[in-house]
Amino acid sequence: MTISEMFLCTWKRFRCFNSHRLLFLTFLALSGTILMKHISSPCTFKNLNDEVDNARRQFCRHGLYDLLSLKPQNQGELNCSKIVKGDSKAIKQGQQINAALKGKHFRLNEQYYINLTHDCQNFKYFRKYISVPMSSEEEEFPIAYSMVVHDNIEMFERLLRVVYAPQNIYCVHVDEKSTEKFKAAVRAITSCFDNVFVASTLEKVVYASWSRVQADLNCMEDLLQSDVPWKYLLNTCGTDFPLKTNAEIVRVLKTLNGKNSMESEKPSESKKKRWKYHHEVENDIIETNITKLPPPISTPMFTGNAYIVVSRDFVQYIFEDPKVQKFIDWVKDTYSPDEHLWATLNRMPDVPGSSPYSDKYELSDMNALVRMVKWSYNEGEIHEGAAYPPCTGIHRRAVCVYGAGDLSWMLKQHHLLANKFDPEVDNIAIYCMEEYLRYKTIFKIDP
Ligand SMILES: *[C@@H]1O[C@H](CO)[C@@H](O)[C@H](O)[C@H]1NC(C)=O
Ligand SMILES: *[C@@H]1O[C@H](CO)[C@@H](O)[C@H](O)[C@H]1NC(C)=O
Ligand SMILES: *[C@@H]1O[C@H](CO)[C@@H](O)[C@H](O)[C@H]1NC(C)=O
Repeated sequence: MTISEMFLCTWKRFRCFNSHRLLFLTFLALSGTILMKHISSPCTFKNLNDEVDNARRQFCRHGLYDLLSLKPQNQGELNCSKIVKGDSKAIKQGQQINAALKGKHFRLNEQYYINLTHDCQNFKYFRKYISVPMSSEEEEFPIAYSMVVHDNIEMFERLLRVVYAPQNIYCVHVDEKSTEKFKAAVRAITSCFDNVFVASTLEKVVYASWSRVQADLNCMEDLLQSDVPWKYLLNTCGTDFPLKTNAEIVRVLKTLNGKNSMESEKPSESKKKRWKYHHEVENDIIETNITKLPPPISTPMFTGNAYIVVSRDFVQYIFEDPKVQKFIDWVKDTYSPDEHLWATLNRMPDVPGSSPYSDKYELSDMNALVRMVKWSYNEGEIHEGAAYPPCTGIHRRAVCVYGAGDLSWMLKQHHLLANKFDPEVDNIAIYCMEEYLRYKTIFKIDP
């Protein structure tokens, strides 16, 4: 029996049990504490949520966790359960492991993924993808992801793996100017899934230009075409990582009750300049002295960021409504339109899921659900008025790239995802997030 056949069986062991009964028994016999009762009737995925038989539910969850745990291997004294609770000794140990790994860490490169995905079953088995919905609640509430990436294949695959659920749908926009190797590796990974695909049109993304929005729009259009009846859309970039499991995200989205969530605030005078002049785009975006006409809308402009949580109705509406289309055309030559297009649309009364443009609905990034970002100038002592404790990683363009010491505070926040993570900066932080989220995915399915 090849490893992929075995994977098919262990993964769907609940289903393929009859054909591989013997193997299954051997597997259980090897994997420890066994009660006759459990052997005689194999686990089904329904058992994971058995409300009556608590012992059976726990048994089946443990069996699944044995297969799918993302506990980092061979990391010495590393204790992620202590790190995510903020234990300073454990964090120090994590930092020492990080320092020892610097430069020596084996990077999962493009060729690694191209090789591994030659056998998709093996790839999913080896990388421990979740391949069944964890609950009917999640199954009935599919989510669409628009993932915009340009490099760092390892980070992309680890993000995909952690947000992946078989009932969801994932569109990946790869920057047109990414290397051929990177594009090939992304295509290789996506080809292993029915519900993960590369956007049908790829943009060359220029920083702060319209192309960043167009990348998301390309994915949105493709996602609307899919058969998956997704209810909400989230967009991510290559340095994001979730703070919540799919089950938790589903529950949060349900409480939104059709509303969108994103940062949307009154613009500062300096931000207003971004749409006062016409901009030219070549390899960079350049401000000209040509004054633009005022925006073709009857409501005010707002600013926010590129990351949004929006309902399916919102996405459908922006492609269909002529007023929105006109506004979209108008923002195309502004500076960083991703930071005012969504924020403004979400305050236009006719747009599905929007909020009124009244001051009462101003929403900062910290109060919106979408993204936890630590800006260097807001960090400090909370008792002295800072927005968040100092970054324990490094700063990149004034944004914190998280270290292991950032996790415990962050995990107490309501945000669905956080930005930025980078294995080159702190791989332990990502390892611990992976272990933590996978544990919760399997043991904390119920609210
Ligand atoms: C990590 O610490 C917890 C206590 O928070 C302890 O129960 C667990 O056994 C430790 N794990 C390892 C691998 O040392
Ligand atoms: C990919 O496979 C080739 C051929 O089997 C092998 O020589 C190479 O080392 C592998 N590369 C990686 C990164 O796994
Ligand atoms: C606008 O910019 C162009 C080229 O940069 C320059 O030739 C022109 O004089 C400027 N016009 C005004 C009104 O500043």
